[in-house]
Amino acid sequence: MRVECFVTGGSGFVGQHLLAHLTATGYTARVLMRQPEQIGRLREQVARLGGRAEFVHAVAGDISQEGLGLGEADRHCISAAAVVFHLAAQFTWGLTTERARAVNVQGALRVASLAAGYGIRLLMVGGFMLQNLDHLARIGVDTKRPENTDWPAVYGRVGGYEGSKLEAHFAVIRHMQDAGAAYSIVHPATVCGQSESGHILAGQPLAVLIRDLALGRFKAIPGSARHWLPLVSVDYLVKMITCVAFDPSMANQQVLALYPHTPNLQGMLAQIATTLAVRAPRRHVPINVLKWILAIPGLAARLSISPESLNFIQTQRFDMRIAEQLERKYQFTHPDMEQALARTVRYVIGYLANNPAPAPRPVAN
Ligand SMILES: NC(=O)c1ccc[n+]([C@@H]2O[C@H](COP(=O)([O-])OP(=O)(O)OC[C@H]3O[C@@H](n4cnc5c(N)ncnc54)[C@H](OP(=O)(O)O)[C@@H]3O)[C@@H](O)[C@H]2O)c1
Repeated sequence: MRVECFVTGGSGFVGQHLLAHLTATGYTARVLMRQPEQIGRLREQVARLGGRAEFVHAVAGDISQEGLGLGEADRHCISAAAVVFHLAAQFTWGLTTERARAVNVQGALRVASLAAGYGIRLLMVGGFMLQNLDHLARIGVDTKRPENTDWPAVYGRVGGYEGSKLEAHFAVIRHMQDAGAAYSIVHPATVCGQSESGHILAGQPLAVLIRDLALGRFKAIPGSARHWLPLVSVDYLVKMITCVAFDPSMANQQVLALYPHTPNLQGMLAQIATTLAVRAPRRHVPINVLKWILAIPGLAARLSISPESLNFIQTQRFDMRIAEQLERKYQFTHPDMEQALARTVRYVIGYLANNPAPAPRPVAN
């Protein structure tokens, strides 16, 4: 008998690859979908990515609604799940605090409450900035006593998306601890395309960066030679998520999914530029100066740079010991990331050839 899982965010980039991995390795997935009529397309995509389409089932719902908008029968089916994978998030820049909180914080709490109510392990996907304690302190997050954090002020500093991911993280841990329920959290770096095919969705931050470099919009390198934007391939990430979700020793633990040898931003842009056959930017511009320039009305849109995206370019290096232990235990490793990045770039070029001016990610949907 196949083990059942419940997945939110299954139609997204990471979610599609997670569904492919889960169904190819013996699991059945019930996927929370705002548009369950799209299940046919999602199944086709899961099959293209190497999964078993027949083991993916839609459950109508929305994390921004009370009770996730679930029907009684679906609720009953979900109660049989071994793990609740929470990936859904409104992942976009320029979100209002209200919208970000309604979806990313309240939505995460609703998913946590469902998992805790049925005694199901929760696997939540966070983000690597949650392991950058200096950054959290700088932006005013009290990691020892998160309830003392002035969250609206944090949102004001880093924007709706990141602010809500940070707030959701601490709120969910608190909820699960109070309920005595088990959770695990995986914190991905910026996600790179699939290491063999380069598959990536168009609105992903890395795909946007590649597009901007291809279109000559990148004039300078944000930050110094010490700054980097750590990457992880989507295939490594979904293996890590799956191992952590079912590992008893990872209950109430967190782990980073991040390739620690990602080059600095200059090196990464040079690699991308080589594959694109365009000139790589050479000059550095301090991030604070860039943010100041982008504050000039209309400039962020004209230069196609969101100040929020600059927060992810940092100098912090990370302790990877837990991730390395899991890699040894489950015998997996990062793919050749230079190759994975080159393949991702080629995938994006293919996409650009068919859609020369891709629409920006919608802010509200
Ligand atoms: N990609 C990265 O570089 C990266 C890095 C660090 C962390 N993360 C985290 O990883 C997770 C997955 O990211 P991703 O890149 O796969 O995001 P994505 O491609 O933008 O997918 C987002 C998913 O969330 C769903 N969703 C949004 N609002 C919802 C709502 N109100 N109710 C139900 N579902 C909703 C979307 O469903 P629809 O199809 O209905 O829109 C979609 O399936 C997120 O939590 C993100 O914060 C991603």
